[in-house]
Amino acid sequence: MRELEERILKDGRVLPGEVLKVDGFLNHQVDPDLMFAMGTEFAHRFQDAGVTKILTVESSGIAPAVMAGLAMHVPVVFARKHKSVTLIDDLYTAEVYSYTKKTSNHISIAKKFLQPGEKVLLIDDFLANGQAVQGMFEICDQAQVTIAGVGIVIEKVFQTGHQMIVDRGVLLESLAQITSFDGDRVHFASEDVD
Ligand code: G4P
Ligand code: NA
Ligand code: NA
Repeated sequence: MRELEERILKDGRVLPGEVLKVDGFLNHQVDPDLMFAMGTEFAHRFQDAGVTKILTVESSGIAPAVMAGLAMHVPVVFARKHKSVTLIDDLYTAEVYSYTKKTSNHISIAKKFLQPGEKVLLIDDFLANGQAVQGMFEICDQAQVTIAGVGIVIEKVFQTGHQMIVDRGVLLESLAQITSFDGDRVHFASEDVD
């Protein structure tokens, strides 16, 4: 998505450890116009997938997920993060390890918000090693729902999450695909297309 790539080049900053800081428009301050355009783009890319619900993880997944839900007219549910989960009877839960933060969290959602038979689109702001998506896959498996696809705002193609999703045979759509960082420069997969 050209508009997003241009914004990354303008306002993104590459930090040590191959982390792209985009807190000016995506995961701290939010640009609603850009977010709305991204939601519309997700709706377009998944229009034939029969999506009945969108699932994301708090907190940075919520803004793009809600905009996609607005464009697709389907409800959005976000998994909550906890250090540990004790009362789990009414919850689906999964463990998510963050390579970036070196911590483990549980994510959970109330069972009543994922009914068998639903077709669920998973949305997140970043795809790196795919731990968050893996956790959402586990929750969808527990709930016996169909995964309609995975929609990512910014994907770092060189990390392991991309292949994990492809190996599972799930449709993956990313609005910006970063192939490498070169010092403070960002390279996109779209540069490789003639
Ligand atoms: P993974 O889910 O793909 O495995 O991600 P990983 O463990 O590597 O990263 C942990 C957190 O860091 C996730 O946010 C993820 O979205 C975010 N992240 C990964 N790569 C980047 C990056 O290059 N730039 C930025 N800004 N974030 C990145 P989180 O802590 O789960 O979420 P949230 O509370 O911010 O929503
Ligand atoms: Na996230
Ligand atoms: Na994040």
